[in-house]
Amino acid sequence: MLRIEKLDVAYGHLQILRQVSMNINVGEIVAILGPNGAGKTTLLKSIMGLVPPMSGKVFFQGQDVTGHPTYELARQGIAFVPEERNIFQAMTVEENLLLGAYFNSDKDLIKQYLEHVYDMFPRLLERRKQLAGTMSGGERQMLAIGRGLMSNPHLVILDEPSMGLSPTNVLVVFDTIKKLVAQDVTIMIVEQNLSTTLGVASRAYVMEQGAVVMEGPSEELANNDYVKKMYLGLAD
Ligand SMILES: Nc1ncnc2c1ncn2[C@@H]1O[C@H](COP(=O)(O)OP(=O)(O)OP(=O)(O)O)[C@@H](O)[C@H]1O
Ligand SMILES: [Mg+2]
Repeated sequence: MLRIEKLDVAYGHLQILRQVSMNINVGEIVAILGPNGAGKTTLLKSIMGLVPPMSGKVFFQGQDVTGHPTYELARQGIAFVPEERNIFQAMTVEENLLLGAYFNSDKDLIKQYLEHVYDMFPRLLERRKQLAGTMSGGERQMLAIGRGLMSNPHLVILDEPSMGLSPTNVLVVFDTIKKLVAQDVTIMIVEQNLSTTLGVASRAYVMEQGAVVMEGPSEELANNDYVKKMYLGLAD
C-alpha cells in the first residue's frame, strides 16, 4: 500500500528525518511510536506532500508519489487526519463531513459515504446540524476521522487520534480503527498511547531523533525490554 524509502527531511538547515524507510501492507494497522519531537508528524507531513523531502521516495500503491500535492494524494485514496484536526468551527457537522468528499461529484456516492460515516458514528448523525465549534473534543475527533472517510480512502493516516480524549472516547476511536480494517481500509497511526496502540496494530516502528530505531510485530515490541522500560514505564 505504502512504501517509504530512505526519506531525508529538513526544515531549513535543520535535518529532522534521516533515512526513514517503512512498508505498510494492504489491510494492516501499522503504528509509529516515539517520543515528542522524534519526527513522527514530520514523516506524515512529508508523505502527504506538506513538507517536501530532501531525498528519498514515497510509493503509494506502487506509484511514485514523492512530493505530490496533498489534494492529489487525497484523490488517489489517502485520507490524512492531522494532529490539529482542522475542523471548520463555523460550519455544521454535516457541512464539515461533505468537505471530505469535495473532489467527488457523484451525489449518490456521497450520500452513501455519508450514511456509512453516520452508521459508524451515530453521535455525528445526532449532531449533524450542530456547529462543529461547539462539539466536544471527542466528538470533534470523530468528525475529523469521519471527514477523512468521506473520500472512501484505501489508506487512512492518523496523527495521534487519541490525543486529549477521555478513556471512553479513546476506546471509541480504537474501535473505529478496528472496524475500518475489517472493511479493507489500511491504517497508519501515530500514537503516544502505547499499550492501547500495540493492542490493535499488527506491526509498529519506533522512531527516535528522526530515525527508525526498531520495528517488528506489535507483540514482539510490547515484550521488548527496551520498549517496556522506555515507553511503557515498566521496570524489568
Ligand atoms: N515547521 C517547522 N520548522 C522547524 N522545525 C520544526 C517544524 N516542525 C517541526 N519541527 C521540529 O522538528 C522536530 C520533529 O517534530 P515533529 O512534530 O515531527 O515531532 P513528533 O514526533 O510528531 O512529536 P510529537 O509527539 O510531540 O507530536 C521537532 O524538534 C520540531 O521542533
Ligand atoms: Mg506529532
